[in-house]
Amino acid sequence: MDQETFPGWVARAAGATLEQLGPATLDDLDTAVRVRYSSINYKDALALHGRPGVLRRHPLIAGIDLTGEVLKSRHPRWKAGDAVTLNGAGLGEDLHGGLAGLAAVNGDDLVLVPAQLGPLRAAAIGTAGFTAALSLLALERHGLAPETGPILVTGAGGGVGSVAVALLAAARYEVIAATGRPAELSSQLTALGAAQVLDRASVLSSGKPLGKQRWAGVLDAVGGPVLAGALAGLQHSGVATTCGLAGGAEYPGTVLPFILRGVSLLGIDSVRTPPLRREAAWQRLAQLLDPALLDSVTRVVPLSDAKDAAASLLAGTGTGRTVVDVASA
Ligand SMILES: NC(=O)c1ccc[n+]([C@@H]2O[C@H](COP(=O)([O-])OP(=O)(O)OC[C@H]3O[C@@H](n4cnc5c(N)ncnc54)[C@H](OP(=O)(O)O)[C@@H]3O)[C@@H](O)[C@H]2O)c1
Repeated sequence: MDQETFPGWVARAAGATLEQLGPATLDDLDTAVRVRYSSINYKDALALHGRPGVLRRHPLIAGIDLTGEVLKSRHPRWKAGDAVTLNGAGLGEDLHGGLAGLAAVNGDDLVLVPAQLGPLRAAAIGTAGFTAALSLLALERHGLAPETGPILVTGAGGGVGSVAVALLAAARYEVIAATGRPAELSSQLTALGAAQVLDRASVLSSGKPLGKQRWAGVLDAVGGPVLAGALAGLQHSGVATTCGLAGGAEYPGTVLPFILRGVSLLGIDSVRTPPLRREAAWQRLAQLLDPALLDSVTRVVPLSDAKDAAASLLAGTGTGRTVVDVASA
C-alpha cells in the first residue's frame, strides 16, 4: 500500500498505550481495509498485557481479527466498498493487526461478511466464533453427527465456548456445557442451547485414565486437566477437537482413551486455515447462528477500553464476546 494513496489516514495502535501511526508504518500487502471493528480474543489479551508468545515483531499493532470495508485492492477478488472480515492469517502476530483504523492485509485470506450477519455480528463472532465453527467442521469431517450422541463444550462461558454452544445446538447437537462458573452462567448457557450445564470440576481428570463414557464428541477450548478428563469420558470411537490452552498447555492424560477406546483428537489452527475452509466456516456460522443469541453474549467497547476488556479474559472472568469499536476512542 503506498503512502500517497491514503494521505490523511492514521492507524491507532492499542497496547500498553494508544499511539498514532502513519500509513507508511503498515505492511506492504495487496489490500487496504478501513477497520470498523476488532474483537478481544485470548491471544489479544495476552498481547495487550505484554505476555510472551503472540507478538512476533515489535512494535506491532495488536488484534488477531478485523471487520471493515475494502478501501483499495490489487487482489482480483476485492474492490473498494466490499464488507470483509479476517481472522488470524498472522494478523496481530506477524502482521499489524485489527486494533487500528486502517489495516493492510492479504486479499487471499479475506472473507466477505455474510449479508445475514452484517459487520458488527461478524466482529462479534470474530476469531473465537470462527474457531468454534472450524471445530464443528472438523468433528463432522470425522463422522460426528447429532444422532451420534451428546457433545461436551469446555470453557463454555468464554468466546470460543459460548459461540460453540449456540452453533452446535442450532445444528441439533445435544450440548453439554462445562464451565467453572455454573452458578453464574447456567441460565445464559441454557439460553444459548445447552441441554445440560456441568461444573468444570466434574470433567477434570480424576487421575484415572478412563472414566464413564459420557459423550460422543468434545469441543475443547481449555486444554490441561480439563482436556484429559474430557478424553477420559469420551465414548468408544468418539472424537474431540483441541484449540486452546486457557486451562493449561500440558496434557496430563494417558494414551489409554486412544488405544482402548479408539478415540481421536483433532487439532484446530484458525491462523493458517486455507481460504476455502474459511468460507465454509463462515457460511455455517451465517446459516446457523441466531443473531439474537449472539447479541445476548456480545458487548461493544471503545478502543480505549480494549486493554481492560482483555484483563478479564486473563482473569478467567470474561464471558461471551467483546467487540472493539475502533472508531470510537
Ligand atoms: N487454535 C486456534 O486457532 C484458536 C483460536 C481461537 C482461540 N484459541 C484458544 O482457545 C482458548 C479460548 O479462547 P477464547 O477467546 O474463548 O478465550 P476466553 O473468552 O477467555 O475463554 C476461555 C474460557 O476458558 C475457561 N478457563 C479460563 N481459565 C481456565 C482455567 N484456568 N482452567 C479451566 N478453564 C479455564 C473459562 O470458561 P469457564 O469459566 O466457562 O470455564 C474461560 O471463559 C484460548 O486458549 C485461545 O488461545 C485458539
